[in-house]
Amino acid sequence: MERLDKILANAMVGSRKEVVKLIRSGVVFQNGIPITDPSHKIDPKVSELTINGTPIFYQEHYHIMLHKPQGYICATEDTREKTVLDLLPDDVFPKHKLFPAGRLDKDTEGFVLLTTDGKLAHRITGPKNHINKKYYVELDKPLQSGWNKSFQNGIIIDDGYRCKPAFFEPISHNTCHLTLFEGKFHQVKRMFEALGCTVTYLKRVQIGSVTLDEALNLGEFRELTQQELSRLETVPEHYKENL
Ligand code: URA
Repeated sequence: MERLDKILANAMVGSRKEVVKLIRSGVVFQNGIPITDPSHKIDPKVSELTINGTPIFYQEHYHIMLHKPQGYICATEDTREKTVLDLLPDDVFPKHKLFPAGRLDKDTEGFVLLTTDGKLAHRITGPKNHINKKYYVELDKPLQSGWNKSFQNGIIIDDGYRCKPAFFEPISHNTCHLTLFEGKFHQVKRMFEALGCTVTYLKRVQIGSVTLDEALNLGEFRELTQQELSRLETVPEHYKENL
């Protein structure tokens, strides 16, 4: 059960102040009965809400695919840096409830999942769940033969940690895709450092079975479709077969 003013504010009907005014004016109905008390508690999943006769659709959680540009950090607030939430307008989603599920570095581009669902975020980023994250990588030096094996065996990075097997797919002489099933700090960059080269450009292109929408320009975003939402936690079969 939740307060009516909170439900309407979360449904992006208006700010908390605006919806309180609206409710008091007598235009909000629950199952055909006018409700004028903003603190009135209802279960939005079972009650039908209307404003001036127009139904309000309740959405418990929001999940957003953002094409992160460089220069933004994956945090909800920061005193000095621009955060990924700065890329969203204030009035489209319950912005204060969204947070990034997993981090990309300030200079990394690509797919950031913003969600209001803490449990989902945990399942996507939790190391035990092994949800794949695929990166497009550009390097300062040519790819080497033998890297395939090195990534399969687990690269040992600067702090002595042996990374879990990663899936390496060459694209050109100095570009590749690398898919990880865990997420240590600066992991892709540190794995290539261990192989003696520097990542000059990094972009996350896939989480689970959901690929970054090519129609999204840098800094653009959209809600995930229901199908994408269900595919976020599905590891593509070819990774399972090849690792
Ligand atoms: N690995 C990195 O090194 N940086 C990122 O932003 C993501 C993965």
